[in-house]
Order: sequence, then C-alpha cells, then structure tokens
Amino acid sequence: MASELTAPQTLTELSPRALEILQGVEQFKSHDLDWKNGQVMGYVYYPGPEAQNLIAHAYTSFLTENGLDPLTFPSVMQLEKEVLKRVAAHLQGDADVVGNFTSGGTESIICAVKAAREYARLHKPDVTEPELLLPVTAHAAFHKAAVYLGVKLVLVPVDETSFRALPDQMEAAISPNTIMMVGSAPSYAHGVLDPIEALAELAQRRGVWLHVDACVGGWHLPYMRKAGYNIAPFSFEVPGVSSISVDLHKYAYAAKGASMVLYRNKQLRRGQIFATSDWTGYTIVNPTVQSSKTGGPMAAAWAMLEYMGDDGYVDVIREVQAATQRLIDGVNAQPELQVLSQPDMCMFAFHSPDNSVDIFHLADELKFMGWYVQPQFGRRGSPANLHISANLAVAKRVDDFLATLPEAIRRAKAQPPIDVTNLLPLAAMLKLPNGSLNLDFFDQLKGAVGFSGGGGANDLPQRMAFINHLLNGMPADVANLIFVEFVNELYVQA
Ligand SMILES: Cc1ncc(COP(=O)(O)O)c(C=O)c1O
Repeated sequence: MASELTAPQTLTELSPRALEILQGVEQFKSHDLDWKNGQVMGYVYYPGPEAQNLIAHAYTSFLTENGLDPLTFPSVMQLEKEVLKRVAAHLQGDADVVGNFTSGGTESIICAVKAAREYARLHKPDVTEPELLLPVTAHAAFHKAAVYLGVKLVLVPVDETSFRALPDQMEAAISPNTIMMVGSAPSYAHGVLDPIEALAELAQRRGVWLHVDACVGGWHLPYMRKAGYNIAPFSFEVPGVSSISVDLHKYAYAAKGASMVLYRNKQLRRGQIFATSDWTGYTIVNPTVQSSKTGGPMAAAWAMLEYMGDDGYVDVIREVQAATQRLIDGVNAQPELQVLSQPDMCMFAFHSPDNSVDIFHLADELKFMGWYVQPQFGRRGSPANLHISANLAVAKRVDDFLATLPEAIRRAKAQPPIDVTNLLPLAAMLKLPNGSLNLDFFDQLKGAVGFSGGGGANDLPQRMAFINHLLNGMPADVANLIFVEFVNELYVQA
C-alpha cells in the first residue's frame, strides 16, 4: 500500500512486517476529514499530488540530519541560508537582512519577541516591565510569547468595522516600557492588512520596534502584487519595519514545520540567539527555540520553492484569489450571512448579523456534510463568526461548497435554538479567587455538555454548537481555564 506521503523507493525495500506497520500508521487517520479534496477550509495547504510527493521525498531525505550542529551537518545550514536568501528577497530585504528557519509561526514570533526584549535590555535600560503592544486582532501566538517570556501584553482596540489596527490608538498605548508593537499582514481572523506604513512611521518616530506578522501573507501578498492586485507596502521596503515572521508551511505550500523570522540587520537579531557552555555537556548554540531538529522541513521548503518558481506561485495565487472572490460573493448572497470587513487576501470571516441562522449550528451542519469551517468566538469587538482560509485545494471546490451552503443553512435553522444565559452565572463560579479553575464545577460542566473525559476520537462530542455558545458567552479568562483543564484531561494514555 503506497502512501502518498511515503517515499516509494524505500517501500520496495520494506519487509511484509514493516509494510503492515505502515498500514497501521495509516489507520490512525480514519477519523480525520478528507483534507485532500479541499473540504477542510483551514489548517492544511495541499499543493496537489506531484508537489506533495516531491516534498515528502525531500523531507524524508533529510529526516535524520540534525540542524543542531551546523559544523557536523553543513548541509542543513546551507539549506537554511538558501531559503533565507529567497525569502529575504521576496520581502524586499537588502543584503543586511538576516533570519532563521523555525518550526512555525508561533516559534518565529517567540523568537522575535525574545530578540526585542533582549534588544530593549541593552538599548532601553529604563524598561522595568517589558510590554508588548498588540492590536486585538494580532495572532494569539503573541499572547503565548508574552507568557513564555514574561512580557506584559497591552491590547489595543481596532477599527470596529474594518478590524484594522488604528495607529492613533496604538500611539496612545505606547509607554516607556514598550519593547515591541505589532502589525499583521494580514490578520488571521478577518484576513485584513493593518496599515503597516502608518505603524512603521509611528514606530520610527517613537523609537519602537515594529514586528510585521506576515505568517499568512508574507509569501502570498507579493505574488498578488505581481498578479496585478493593489497591495499596500508591508515588508522591508517600509522603513521602520524591524522584523517579519513568514510561514512557508501555509501559502508557500511547503511541508509543516516551516517558517522564517527575519530581521532588518544582525544587531536586531542578536538577542534571539541562545548559547551556553556552562554545564558538563556539549556547548549549546541555538538561534531558535528548538535544539535538535530534523532537516526535513528545510529540505521540503527548499524543494517546494524550486519546484513552483515565481511563475508557478503567481498562477496558484491568481486561481486562489479568483476562488476567494467567488466564495465571498456566494456567502454574501445568502440572506442570513455577511462577510466581515473587506478581506485583503484569501482568508475571511462571516457572521449572521441578525442571527437568522445560528452560525455554530451552521458549522456543525457543514461538518456533518463533510466541510470544515472554523468557529471563532465573539471577542474584543468582533462578533462570533465562521472563518475560511481558502487555498489551492479549496479553490477547486468552490462550486460544491456554494451548492452545499443553502442546505446547511436550512438544516441549521431546523435545529432547536440554544440559550445558555441560565448557565452563564455558573461561569462566574468557575474561577476561584486564586485564579485557578473550580474543579468540582468543571466536573458538573463536563456532565452538562456530554464530555466523557476519554481521550479517544469517539469520546469527543460531535455537535459542538452548545459548547461553543457556552464558551463564547463566558469571559475569555474563564474559557481559557476550561480549555486548559479540557486538554489536561484529553491527552491521557490511549
Ligand atoms: C497571522 C498568524 N500568525 C501566526 C500564526 C501561528 O502560526 P503557527 O500555527 O504556524 O504556529 C498564524 C497561524 O495561523 C497566523 O495566521
């Protein structure tokens, strides 16, 4: 049984026993949605069978090489340097731009925040309690970085209809402790580009580090420009942009585990690097969070960029953008639904402004019909909504999705209405004065929502609308505690 993800030349060398084990590995996927057919509208970026085979080969050919030590594995360092050169040029960086390959957007962001914190320690000795300034639409990975790195989050409201960052509001929130401010290109939730030039002007004027989170847009947007779309400057061509994160495992369609964090120059990057020889073992010198790391994602990313070339990416992006416009028009054509703001690339969110359809029911009904769209809670001025990240695989299924949508809406409307207002006072009791979760109440809640506490795929509730309403209605800090407890219970021995 030849899996698409397995290098065929090695399969012929496998014993019957090894082949049987591989079949067992494949079996684990039996509860997953079929993502290759474009019905999972998030999480996966499938480049098609040939490219997928290519990156699988490239990945496995570097599976065991260890990026920990560039002296022992110069091959892995060379791959990283070549990918860096390509990405820096794509983002209009000059020869001074440096950066590193990381495992994903989150790691890139953690690295950038660490670099900015260390830079501030050196250049702004008056900083007592480092602060990270974020529009509320910036990705949650910055919240995680703040927790991991002991930096205080300062969240700034965005425009209430466009969901773009407001430079005036950002400026008002700058303090002597600010070590970094962030703009998104674009934001994940609504797919809109922040006004990067205005933020960069502000950053320069006030002497603040500006990080542009281009995890989703960094690869896609410059090709949109090449395809004739009007895309505002957002990368190193804008003076005042200090660092950029860009994921290759999203819209460059590389294998997962591929992102880059880039800096305008080496001085800005220095604080990202960790080194110690102050223990009894080998010297640790790590530019990024990971220490031992496979060369697989780098080899796969290098291969994908070579394979597609500029023309290949422009063609893909034209197809994806045309499909996105049809999706947006098709969603807006439903009387119950409306797309939020005006998305700048191929990701968008939609809601039901008059609640004529319960969008959490709609997500469930679409899932039962084989389509995954992502529920997003109503938070910080953004209403509860459903998110779609269009991509090459999704582009091929637009007509099918739009044909399914009216029936899914009809089924969602036939579901009993959900009212959680009576349960919400319980939420207030879920958080104890010391900030932890009241575990007795949590057990009652589990019973109410039908979660058995088991770790198997079948133990998870199929209908999520009720749970989504409950969590959506709770203050985010209480919902966060519940998620932690839920995951703590979920990941137990099989
Ligand atoms: C704008 C943005 N930044 C950061 C991330 C985090 O990326 P990852 O999931 O690769 O860690 C994402 C993920 O979707 C994103 O959209």
